[in-house]
Amino acid sequence: PDPGWSIDADVVVVGSGVAGLTAALRCTSAGLRTVVVTKARLDDGSTRWAQGGIAAALGEGDTPEQHLDDTLVAGAGLCDEQAVRALVTEGPGAVRRLIATGAAFDRTDGGEIALTREGGHHRRRIAHAGGDATGAEISRALVEAIRDQGVRFVEHALVLDLLKDAEGRTAGVTLHVMGEGQHDGVGAVHAPAVVLATGGMGQVFSATTNPAVSTGDGVALALRAGAEVSDLEFVQFHPTVLFLGAGSEGQQPLVSEAVRGEGAHLVDADGVRFMLGQHELAELAPRDIVAKAIMRRMREQGAEHMYLDARHFGAEMWERRFPTILAACRAHGIDPVTEPIPVAPAAHYASGGVRTDLLGRTTVPGLYACGEVACTGVHGANRLASNSLLEGLVFAERIADDITAHGPHREGLPLPATAPGSVQTLLPPEERREIQRIMTAGAGVLRSAASLGDAADALEGLQLNAELDAGRDGRKAAEPGVEAWETANLLVVARVLVASAQAREETRGCHWREDRPDRDDAAWRRHLVVRLTPDRR
Ligand code: SIN
Repeated sequence: PDPGWSIDADVVVVGSGVAGLTAALRCTSAGLRTVVVTKARLDDGSTRWAQGGIAAALGEGDTPEQHLDDTLVAGAGLCDEQAVRALVTEGPGAVRRLIATGAAFDRTDGGEIALTREGGHHRRRIAHAGGDATGAEISRALVEAIRDQGVRFVEHALVLDLLKDAEGRTAGVTLHVMGEGQHDGVGAVHAPAVVLATGGMGQVFSATTNPAVSTGDGVALALRAGAEVSDLEFVQFHPTVLFLGAGSEGQQPLVSEAVRGEGAHLVDADGVRFMLGQHELAELAPRDIVAKAIMRRMREQGAEHMYLDARHFGAEMWERRFPTILAACRAHGIDPVTEPIPVAPAAHYASGGVRTDLLGRTTVPGLYACGEVACTGVHGANRLASNSLLEGLVFAERIADDITAHGPHREGLPLPATAPGSVQTLLPPEERREIQRIMTAGAGVLRSAASLGDAADALEGLQLNAELDAGRDGRKAAEPGVEAWETANLLVVARVLVASAQAREETRGCHWREDRPDRDDAAWRRHLVVRLTPDRR
């Protein structure tokens, strides 16, 4: 589409979670003309739903080295150790700077930052706010700082494509904006640096902890722009999501790992603690191990869910420590003070994403990625709990510093930037549920060559139908609009995710192949990197 309006900037940040807003604030402080564009409102997106907290070696006796060890173990042999080292050593300082920005974390009676535990952590190192409303507090503080510092932002702006100059370097983004006054309809922000911070892709599955906006837009844009993406097969399923009935769709309420961190037990239909004896950390084993154990026990018992039992916390602790979860459970007719909570795994986090180096640079010059959309190498095959907010903070700072150090590279920018063609074939929005159904059936917690093959065929069918509907040259199967673009993005990421999961013929981290149950270090201690050739974009 032709841009009907445009803004010039030094940096455009796409997304307004912890990663995007941190990058925007730091770029602004460094004097760069920064524009934040975000698909819904500034405080929508995944950050505000984060419960458990943010991991950093802040406690007495804890060290970045121990945090590194836990992260590497969870990552099942695929973490980039240098990236993890950056995360854990810069993490404590980044959290302190977040506090200085205005985020208020829970404190002990002595005034220290209160720390809890979560799966895979051998120490108490998870800082939290409002009990279990950590993300909401971080989002509040960052949004307030953005407003206070007068950072320019455009809401209701869905990013469409990357703009490139004649030398293939980043020159901005095209956007579809709804109802934002002078910036309405399709427009562009021209800037030599683009920071993708668009979050995850949980909506590719039927049931997810992610909000409705998590439709893989950043990964799809990056693929269309010719950037490399990596590790998309590693989708993390959170073990304890409130079970609302078979076939529940869309965003599901999370029951934070911190509930287990404070001593809740997982029990089966007979009340047996089935994590005992499975791992030295029992209920606090890394997330993939707990999710698999739950799925196995569900299958053995023919049950639709397991239970999380935290009745022993008592009403006072539930109200003080986990008010959000208590309210969500009660809203669905379950009182955790008097009964165990029904839980089952649901899609939670994309450990892979747009491939970056240690400074958040992607393979396209001028294009950066941070937060869930990125694959910096810190998560490997399975992200350690509460490392995601931290990754957003640390790598956003690194990106802002890199852009500041190298200048906005305006000299080389010639001529009006041009979009590399429009968004790929649009899909009717009603196909979204079909994509989710296909992905849940074929590429969910449990995968096999057969289930993945079925999913690949079905997704290919959707793509072909859309192209046939559009005609060979039209490339437009549905009326342009946010939902059609989102659905097209979901299809792009779903197809790459399935292809990667088919290729990885082993079980590792959160990628569980029933037909290849073992980890195969000889063949598979490596990453799957995907880049679309021009004819596939
Ligand atoms: C949780 O609170 O359990 C989520 C933490 C995370 O995903 O890192």
